[in-house]
Amino acid sequence: MSDSLLNSCETVFVVGCGLMGAGIAQVTAQAGLGVVIYDRTEADLERGKRQITKGISKKNEADQQAILNRITFTTNMNDGKDGDLVIEAVPERLEIKKEVFKQLDSLMKPEAILASNTSSLSIAAIGSVTKRPEKIVGLHFFSPVPVMTLLEIVRGIKTDDTTIKFAEAFAEKIDKKTIVAQDYPGFTVNRVLVPMLNEAAFLVMEGNSPEDIDRGMMLGTNQPIGPLKLADMVGIDVLFHTLVSLYEGFNDSKYRPCPLLRRMVEANQLGKKSGKGFYNYS
Ligand SMILES: NC(=O)c1ccc[n+]([C@@H]2O[C@H](COP(=O)([O-])OP(=O)(O)OC[C@H]3O[C@@H](n4cnc5c(N)ncnc54)[C@H](O)[C@@H]3O)[C@@H](O)[C@H]2O)c1
Repeated sequence: MSDSLLNSCETVFVVGCGLMGAGIAQVTAQAGLGVVIYDRTEADLERGKRQITKGISKKNEADQQAILNRITFTTNMNDGKDGDLVIEAVPERLEIKKEVFKQLDSLMKPEAILASNTSSLSIAAIGSVTKRPEKIVGLHFFSPVPVMTLLEIVRGIKTDDTTIKFAEAFAEKIDKKTIVAQDYPGFTVNRVLVPMLNEAAFLVMEGNSPEDIDRGMMLGTNQPIGPLKLADMVGIDVLFHTLVSLYEGFNDSKYRPCPLLRRMVEANQLGKKSGKGFYNYS
């Protein structure tokens, strides 16, 4: 079943050539599928191309060339119109995603599946601007895409079984393991992970040291990385905004963002990317 579904998938259209889009293009091309990747400017495409080139640099010359040859970089959306699957990876703002999906719905053939890599927005809301809500699905990759094994498939209220099966077959093709999550804020992984990181931030606010908290969680629960180190890697701003979407999405105080996280965002203390978070990286 999965093979026959994917036999019809030759080209994947990736929209947005940022951190995630470039990673998705890389793993898709590595799996032998053709990729068209779109962004608005040549500079965005160049940055993505550099990321991909670096990502495949350990492969031999011929493999690197074959992977790059399978990827078309473009600033013209029409170049992606023959894709069988679209994966959108533009910024996490509903109005931007809706605009992109409206365009995609009129551009792509009716049988094409349109996926979003959103980490927190509603698949139903994104799908509502299209005439094919049953073919809209979440494909939530984790960063860095070439390294992380999981692909969380998000089933919107109107997503049909064929679309889910297609998503599972695609995941297998690109060597990812899957879970299917229902379309509620945080899906599955962030719903469990993000409150844990938030709780660790509360512990810091109460005077516990990040080193002790991380050491406790690593030695006491066998996690490979402590929650505060992980928060620094994710980005304190990204963590904070995900908490806000859980808090607002469920209207439940158990997701109240730790005030320390808000202060850190205000102070631009965003974790590894800004040089300082719970730890110092300078
Ligand atoms: N960064 C992560 O760890 C992570 C993990 C999982 C999911 N996500 C999700 O992936 C999506 C992309 O995140 P990212 O980290 O790659 O962001 P990013 O800022 O690195 O990339 C976004 C790209 O989209 C482009 N863009 C903006 N508007 C566009 C438009 N209208 N059409 C086409 N391209 C447009 C930008 O030029 C940029 O290259 C978001 O929805 C995010 O929530 C991110």
